[in-house]
Amino acid sequence: MSNNLTILFVGGGLETLPGVRLAKSMGCYVVVSDINADAPCMVEADATLIASTYDVDESVAVARQYHRDVRPINGVMCMATDVPLTVATIAEDLGLPGIPVLSAQVVADKVAMKDRFLSSGIPLPWYTEVFDADSLKQIVKMRGYPLVLKPVDSRGARGVLRLMPGIDLDWAFSASKSYSPTKRVMVEEFLDGPQISTESLVVQGEVYTLGFSDRNYEFLDRYAPNIIENGGDLPSFLSLADQEKICDLLEKTAKSLDITNGILKGDIVLSGGKPFVIEVALRLSGGYFCSHEIPLNTGIDFVENAIRLALGQSIDPNELIPEFNRPVCQRYFFPTPGKVEEVYVPEWIRNDPEIALFEIRVRPGDIIDRPVHHPSRAGVVIATGKDRDDARNRAECAIKDTRINTVLN
Ligand SMILES: Nc1ncnc2c1ncn2[C@@H]1O[C@H](COP(=O)(O)OP(=O)(O)O)[C@@H](O)[C@H]1O
Ligand SMILES: [Mg+2]
Repeated sequence: MSNNLTILFVGGGLETLPGVRLAKSMGCYVVVSDINADAPCMVEADATLIASTYDVDESVAVARQYHRDVRPINGVMCMATDVPLTVATIAEDLGLPGIPVLSAQVVADKVAMKDRFLSSGIPLPWYTEVFDADSLKQIVKMRGYPLVLKPVDSRGARGVLRLMPGIDLDWAFSASKSYSPTKRVMVEEFLDGPQISTESLVVQGEVYTLGFSDRNYEFLDRYAPNIIENGGDLPSFLSLADQEKICDLLEKTAKSLDITNGILKGDIVLSGGKPFVIEVALRLSGGYFCSHEIPLNTGIDFVENAIRLALGQSIDPNELIPEFNRPVCQRYFFPTPGKVEEVYVPEWIRNDPEIALFEIRVRPGDIIDRPVHHPSRAGVVIATGKDRDDARNRAECAIKDTRINTVLN
């Protein structure tokens, strides 16, 4: 039990709400910090702090003041918000459990993260920082296509572009750069092959990879040059031997980043039968992967364990053994761009117990643009089923039968 222990969630967005509710049901006193006083978690939190989640100093200052003057904080975490550096710095400042600040700093900069992986012998795509469009053109001449251009310090696939023959490299360079707060971009070899999302709990140095999902890139061409993922499927179609290789790689990755207790969210590609790390994040996933897909797939409450880890409570490894391997499918809504006129949700979706989550993020009057990053997806469905095909059919039918009608604006 976590009765009366105080947990601080940095970031109070929609996808953090399941974590706030869970922490409350565990008996925690929940504090949420966000720059937006109307953020979805703010009404349900026991207390709120106003600070930009990306502003480490401001967040530390409000947390410290609350901890000292109002109520001691026992743990700090984030969920579906990419602010592990803010979380690690608050944890260090208040003397709470957390990952090393240096590890969070390394991961906040994709070049520094990859330099670390390279020196630890972790397989990753060839990469280099690129400083102007002319250098990018030289690199293309030398290495050929396909390549990936991305901001060094962004997230949610913002500004991540697959460079293919015919692309305007001047445009690509400035488009990608526009998403970097520090105006830095890097280029990588594009690795072909199945893409996997993983999520692991690291407890006392042991890596428990409980989330393992095949990422769906059916729209790679449709939304090119943007790399837009359309959900994922569990269990993975990869052989157990390949899954094992990926889990071994994640163990090395956790060691390379000095993570003894924490969360490791991985973007992995299996290319030529060998796993490569594209990047990792040291925080809970978005897209309801940690809160819905992993528990539905394994029977393990991933977020509950993450909360306990943040509070410094012990975790019994026996509780991290999956109870089952239920098929789960996640798909997103990609309505035709335009102005939303009508949203119609058929009755069966509300009544089908296999539809575990259904969320539409647009309403009449909203303008839908062509998706250029993950936050621009219009909604999400998560379905279970008796096998992978059944779960996928339900998710795809829910998408197809829901009408988000748009008109050209
Ligand atoms: N070198 C690469 N090879 C293949 N796919 C890649 C590569 N780099 C990025 N991607 C794809 O693009 C997605 C987003 O890129 P990523 O580097 O993870 O940026 P973000 O921080 O925005 O998530 C990755 O999850 C992966 O699917
Ligand atoms: Mg990523």
